[in-house]
Amino acid sequence: MSDEAPQSTVQKLLKVVVPPPESAGSKITIVGVGQVGMACAFSILTQNVSSHVCLIDCVEDKLKGEMMDLQHGSVFMKNAKIEASTDYAISAGSKICIVTAGARQREGESRLDLVQRNTDIMKFIIPQLVKHSPDTMLLIVSNPVDILTYVAWKLSGLPKNRVFGSGTNLDSSRFRFLISQKLGIAPSCVHGFVIGEHGDSSVPVWSEVNVSGIRLCELNPNLAGCSDPENWAKIHQDVVESAYEVIKLKGYTSWAIGLSVSNICNAIFRNTQSIKVVSTHIQGIHGVTEDVFLSLPAVLAGNGVSQVVLQDLTDVEKGKLKKSAELIQEVQNGLQY
Ligand SMILES: NC(=O)c1ccc[n+]([C@@H]2O[C@H](COP(=O)([O-])OP(=O)(O)OC[C@H]3O[C@@H](n4cnc5c(N)ncnc54)[C@H](O)[C@@H]3O)[C@@H](O)[C@H]2O)c1
Repeated sequence: MSDEAPQSTVQKLLKVVVPPPESAGSKITIVGVGQVGMACAFSILTQNVSSHVCLIDCVEDKLKGEMMDLQHGSVFMKNAKIEASTDYAISAGSKICIVTAGARQREGESRLDLVQRNTDIMKFIIPQLVKHSPDTMLLIVSNPVDILTYVAWKLSGLPKNRVFGSGTNLDSSRFRFLISQKLGIAPSCVHGFVIGEHGDSSVPVWSEVNVSGIRLCELNPNLAGCSDPENWAKIHQDVVESAYEVIKLKGYTSWAIGLSVSNICNAIFRNTQSIKVVSTHIQGIHGVTEDVFLSLPAVLAGNGVSQVVLQDLTDVEKGKLKKSAELIQEVQNGLQY
């Protein structure tokens, strides 16, 4: 018998060639394991976007419970590594850090009302994430997302391509869904964007809404205009009000934002260079002079936001975007970060 006989069951079963690496290189950290953070984690894991998801929260029991619950589903997924800790050291080496921590809107409360509370939370979270993952990208989801993305950018010192917010990717999805219902076709076949603030001053780009390249505004010059007998303008009102309505009905929003965030991460990990409507630094575009983050269609690549699409906006659309920028800048000026 050999002197090197295996001691444990593992050693009896497995002969080590080399130990496996810590991570497959697609590590995502999610800070905040509330409704939104867990919907992001669930979408990312079930859609096989990342093989290493790390959860962080300040509430230890809930964090452990969420981690265990996900781990117990590993057999039905692709055996991603799922970890959790209140200690940010666990996030080391993350390619993307998603921030969903913070207070959410109460019924009837606007996103802007949350601003100083969630800015204070960012002051704690962002430096820790960057300390442990200096090469990371930050994807901000907490509201008000445009302002908090700006705050995260300032606090992190990272280049602007590596800091972005989930922005109006979700609003655009709601917009496309509602139009598709009116037309009776699949949402993915309706193309169009909601840009600007993820919130009450978002801008629907009706001039570009199209199906198979056919612009609806050419079929209907009154589309969402002054005279709008078919009431297309209501679709954007519904987009703006839909978060309030879902919150009123179920207390929070989760599944759609989780899917939207997963879709953004997928574009980055696969370097797809596909276009998503994310909150990015838009100073100098469409006449915006303010130092703000707002959503525009942007090309997402392995290094984050690589290009911003220069849409052919009407003067009215540009004016609305500018107004959003002024509003955001005004709120930012009153912030302590
Ligand atoms: N951008 C979007 O499209 C979008 C959509 C929905 C919700 N949101 C926003 O996402 C945020 C989270 O919403 P939710 O419904 O998940 O809220 P939630 O209350 O369910 O969860 C928030 C989580 O953050 C954690 N947290 C709070 N402070 C923390 C800190 N300092 N460090 C670590 N964790 C901390 C809490 O413990 C909790 O688990 C809110 O700001 C909400 O408005 C954004």
